[in-house]
Amino acid sequence: MHQFDKPETVLIHGGIFGDPLTRSVNVPIYQTSTFQQTALEGHPQWEYARTGNPTRAALEALIAELEGGTAGFAFGSGMAAITAVLQLFQSGDRILISTNVYGGTYRVLNKVFNAFGLSSEMIDMSSAESIESRITPDTRAILLESPANPLMTVTDIALVANVAKAHGILTIVDNTFMTPYLQKPLELGADIVVHSATKYLGGHSDLVAGLAVTKDAALAERLAFIQNATGGVLGPFDSFLLIRGIKTLAVRMDRHVENAERIARWLGKHPAIKHIYYPGLEGAQGYDIQKRQAKNGGAMISFELQPEYDTREFFKALKLVSLAESLGGVESLACHPATMTHASIPKNVRERVGITDSLIRLSVGIEHAEDLIADVEQAIEASKR
Ligand SMILES: Cc1ncc(COP(=O)(O)O)c(C=O)c1O
Repeated sequence: MHQFDKPETVLIHGGIFGDPLTRSVNVPIYQTSTFQQTALEGHPQWEYARTGNPTRAALEALIAELEGGTAGFAFGSGMAAITAVLQLFQSGDRILISTNVYGGTYRVLNKVFNAFGLSSEMIDMSSAESIESRITPDTRAILLESPANPLMTVTDIALVANVAKAHGILTIVDNTFMTPYLQKPLELGADIVVHSATKYLGGHSDLVAGLAVTKDAALAERLAFIQNATGGVLGPFDSFLLIRGIKTLAVRMDRHVENAERIARWLGKHPAIKHIYYPGLEGAQGYDIQKRQAKNGGAMISFELQPEYDTREFFKALKLVSLAESLGGVESLACHPATMTHASIPKNVRERVGITDSLIRLSVGIEHAEDLIADVEQAIEASKR
């Protein structure tokens, strides 16, 4: 075990560094489904790759260390990680979720888990009273994202965790938008962190993966059982790619955020912009909470154009920024939450929470900020009715 605690160093040297067998500096890709056993007695450390694979184990140790948890778990997608965590609960249990939670999370709860008797409710988490008023005797967990997709709604994680603890229920935080480099929910009192590692952790839009980290050993044991029993594990090659992506997280995030802050300040003053959602801008919803619980505002920006601009034309006119689902890669992406990421949320629910048809979401990449501003500027011009 190393003795470094600065995040930039832990990202590179954390978890299991290299390979003790050959002293290679990178963890090898153990592309195997099974391992030779020497005798019938006992359980060797490695026996079957669903249960454990050394490349995946290195990634799992790394994310556990980065989030400050007891154990990490790698899955085939962010949704597989969230699904495994939801399998900690049973029929009759109830889960409270934050407004603007990722559409896929809403969908798996409302179209899959509800058939097994696990119910959920989207609630306002802006105060202890609003949360407490929705807690019933069968409420078992609160699941939140902060900042939440796509309006960048900031939730006070410590406040939610305190309320949850007082009622003996778990706090689960989807930390995809922040990563442990910008925000550490377990230190704020959460019990479980989940990630779509497809995004910033992978960082290059070349893999789909999910991670979960537990704070205490008992939860870790239960989640390890579920991971092995249900089997949605990440393969060795994608585990390797994710370890490789995580090594550069600090430098990438610093540039993502530098660009995002510059673009947000520019958009904030632009006459064509009706509203901008970016928690790193003074005056934004949750700005003070964000400052307290995270390193900065991250690199996701949403905005609405004034009515005299046509959102469809804006997307069509973009040249450098790609119109695409997903986020967190080195390249900038734009998306239309109402028809893309949040299409699985019914229109009436979408509108109630503010996801209008004119909302545009930008995942700010690490290109030169001036090139990004020039592209968005020309697309705004081209979209004028
Ligand atoms: C915040 C958040 N959580 C979870 C997911 C699901 O992750 P995946 O697409 O890796 O299954 C996403 C995907 O966009 C997301 O944005």
